[in-house]
Amino acid sequence: DGFSGKEVFGQGVCYTYDDVIFHPGHIDFAAHEVELKSKISKNITLRTPLVSSPMDTVTEAGMAVAMATVGGMGFLHYNMTTEDQAENVRLVKNHTIGFITHPEVMPPSNTISDIDEMKSRRGYSSVLVTDTGKIGGKLLGIVTTRDIDLVTNRSLTLESVMTCDLLTVDDTATFEKAAEMLKASKKGKLPVVAADGTLKRLATYASLKEALLLPSAGAPSTDAKGRLLVGAAVGTRPDDKVRVARLVEEGVDAVILDSSQGDSVYQIEMIKHLKATYPSLDVIGGNVVTAAQASRLIDAGADGLRVGMGSGSICTTQEVCAVGRGQATAVYKVAALAHSRGVPIIADGGIQNSGHIVKALALGASMVMCGSMFAGTTEAPGDYFFQDGVKLKRYRGMGSLEAMSKGSDTRYLSEATHLKVAQGVAGSVKDKGSVLKMIPYLMHGVKQGFQARHCPSTAASRVLCHRAYDLDVLMLWLRSVLVACAVSVDLLVVDSG
Ligand code: XMP
Repeated sequence: DGFSGKEVFGQGVCYTYDDVIFHPGHIDFAAHEVELKSKISKNITLRTPLVSSPMDTVTEAGMAVAMATVGGMGFLHYNMTTEDQAENVRLVKNHTIGFITHPEVMPPSNTISDIDEMKSRRGYSSVLVTDTGKIGGKLLGIVTTRDIDLVTNRSLTLESVMTCDLLTVDDTATFEKAAEMLKASKKGKLPVVAADGTLKRLATYASLKEALLLPSAGAPSTDAKGRLLVGAAVGTRPDDKVRVARLVEEGVDAVILDSSQGDSVYQIEMIKHLKATYPSLDVIGGNVVTAAQASRLIDAGADGLRVGMGSGSICTTQEVCAVGRGQATAVYKVAALAHSRGVPIIADGGIQNSGHIVKALALGASMVMCGSMFAGTTEAPGDYFFQDGVKLKRYRGMGSLEAMSKGSDTRYLSEATHLKVAQGVAGSVKDKGSVLKMIPYLMHGVKQGFQARHCPSTAASRVLCHRAYDLDVLMLWLRSVLVACAVSVDLLVVDSG
């Protein structure tokens, strides 16, 4: 008839998400009534319990903007210079929903063949032309498909083909004003310019339409000033203290101390330093997989913990180092301890479908972090390429040799040696479209998973009831579609007790 959480996880055997499944309960309310609001750290609550991983093929400013837009949050990777990471924070904090803050921009001396090349990589065929070839330069014109489609000489410069008679809007205009102007003009693009003629951002018919649809999807994640929330990963080296100082200057909301084995003297010292220097900055420690590890980081002052070791789709840490833990067990065990100390945990890695998210939350995580799930989306860094007719993007472990050569070796504690041992692999994933479209579907699947009988202990509440200590009194109802995600493995049934 199944087992309680205590029985399943008290036998000294480790389980991954696919090893466990919940018995269905009795439905007495609609899926949309399930409240998924949850904490990522002591002081930050998100409407959508999903964050994107700080990996260089997953989260830069574009992904962080999209994640915050749908009520989650993105964590910027730090395989880049301090200034580049600070610039990414700035871009997110300055982002206005409904506008494109990173439009394609080229200098007038570029040629049509540069646009052809860009089209094959990114799929766009329109560019704005500024004197510097960058955002912030003086806007000179725009080149769209209509300007170049029938031109046979592809070595002509953009200067000779661009449209200079532009409809623009000034950067103090509201979103509604921009939408109105675009609608009246019947054009597809509206550059936003400052009083001195420099390009600030771009409004397109599609970006404005997307923003108009958002109110029905729910509020974005914002800070007290209404700016989008953004987090960033940092290391524990002395120069990471300088890095955090710059990120704080730009308004970062939380930092993650990025390590595959976070229970170290380096991390404890860094947590203490950051909490003493920036009391209002949320500091997330990890990764950990045992209660003892979690306890040490909580004692040091961590506001949240990231849980998972070797559970990610691109991880080889368990194979290389023989350390780690089955992710379902790790989440359950760490959550039980962390919850008793008032610290939320993030289940990090190994999420392949909405059923895994349901399991992570039901086992005690407050938040779920995904890498591969969001890799290959429009917002993930990197260009698309075709292989055997399939549209792909790169996805690689931060412990892969390829990524470590760019600086992420500190996460894998190999900076002190010239020998770099890979703890991750590099590969590619299929195009998945935009996370703006994917996440609402994913969350609806999760709500259906939690369309549960509420626990007796919180009888009046229909809120997500996912604390680990509650598991043995929790009756979950999983739709057959979610159950189908796990039927191919041995099933261990967790009962309501
Ligand atoms: P998913 O399954 O979402 O996992 O792709 C993402 C998480 O995996 C971790 N990560 C790694 N772990 N070697 C590892 O052992 C690596 O190279 C690596 N890169 C990322 C990380 O916790 C991430 O959030």
